[in-house]
Amino acid sequence: MRLSNCHNFHDFRSLARRRLPGPVFHYIDGAADDETTHRRNTEAYGSYDLVPNVLAGVKNVDLSTTIFGKKLALPIYCAPTALQRLFHHDGERAVAKAAQKFGTMFGVSSLGTVSVEEIGRMVTTPKMFQFYFHKDRGLNNSMIERAKAANFDVMALTVDTITGGNRERDLRTGFTSPPQLTLQSMISFALRPKWAFNHFTHPKFELPQLEDHVKEGTELATSICNYFSTMLDQSMNWKDAEDICAKWDGQFALKGIMSVEDAKRAIDIGCTGIIVSNHGGRQLDGSRSSFDQLAEIVDTVGDRIDVICEGGIQRGTHVLKALSVGAKACSGGRLYLYALAAAGQDGVERALGLFRSEIERDMKLMGCTSIDQLSRKNLRFRR
Ligand code: LAC
Repeated sequence: MRLSNCHNFHDFRSLARRRLPGPVFHYIDGAADDETTHRRNTEAYGSYDLVPNVLAGVKNVDLSTTIFGKKLALPIYCAPTALQRLFHHDGERAVAKAAQKFGTMFGVSSLGTVSVEEIGRMVTTPKMFQFYFHKDRGLNNSMIERAKAANFDVMALTVDTITGGNRERDLRTGFTSPPQLTLQSMISFALRPKWAFNHFTHPKFELPQLEDHVKEGTELATSICNYFSTMLDQSMNWKDAEDICAKWDGQFALKGIMSVEDAKRAIDIGCTGIIVSNHGGRQLDGSRSSFDQLAEIVDTVGDRIDVICEGGIQRGTHVLKALSVGAKACSGGRLYLYALAAAGQDGVERALGLFRSEIERDMKLMGCTSIDQLSRKNLRFRR
């Protein structure tokens, strides 16, 4: 199978599976406990049907949206995700360049593998920095200052990783960052020689945002869940979030909001956006899907703050459904990560290109020429 044969999310996933060592593939692909929420994130979109209008003169369709004061050419962006250079040796560099080509935003993680400084020099497209609140206050301050100096446009504080989710696939495969050389992992690398060659012949795996502060994840191998449980500060509360927001003093979002009460509080502490997300089902299994939870959040805070819907998006119609409920944009990790793993920048460009054509085609078929024409009038719940 080749990149040119990838026509949808599932094709990228199959190709990534063939290219990645098992433990790395399952780290991306897996979720918490029984992975119910992960599945439900996508299935939820299937519980609603679109009702199109016709004869609307749809020759020119405008797919742009404005979030965090920035105009994006697409209503979808690449969510920040960790460890990208393990998936493809170009990692964030590939994602940054692809996002820029499509005029959309992308995120860089606190556990990212290319420095915020390098990313800041590389692209001008809107950039989000994803912040994990560590016990190490010096590290927290350094990340905020570095992201600011590197001209990141948005800060997103992740609030749904207060402890590690139970990712049983990672327990079974022994996945750690960095990957440890055990018999099991060496067999998995030997089965993917091209990945192993690229991984070991490119610059050493690093987590540059944590540099000088943390050895875990680079010099000391750790599972991501163990990292969350031991390195992040479980006492984090609304006051801390408010302080970080004030320190950032710019466009600020909480990532991982699911309840209306929390959405309201996000406004009180000064957020300009919230990302409705359950972390791709990787944290609290049994949590409601982000799409199912979107309407009540939009109804309460949608006119005061940018609401982003994240998780489970595999199709242009999923984006249209979330926008119809009232999200300003959608985001996701796996929607570009399999493509990154499959073919680096070319892969991410193909994934974003397919989303762009699907969204444009679906808008035309819905009889809409701009995304503000999508509304709940065009959506029905299927009993
Ligand atoms: C994860 C983190 C790192 O879900 O976002 O694995």
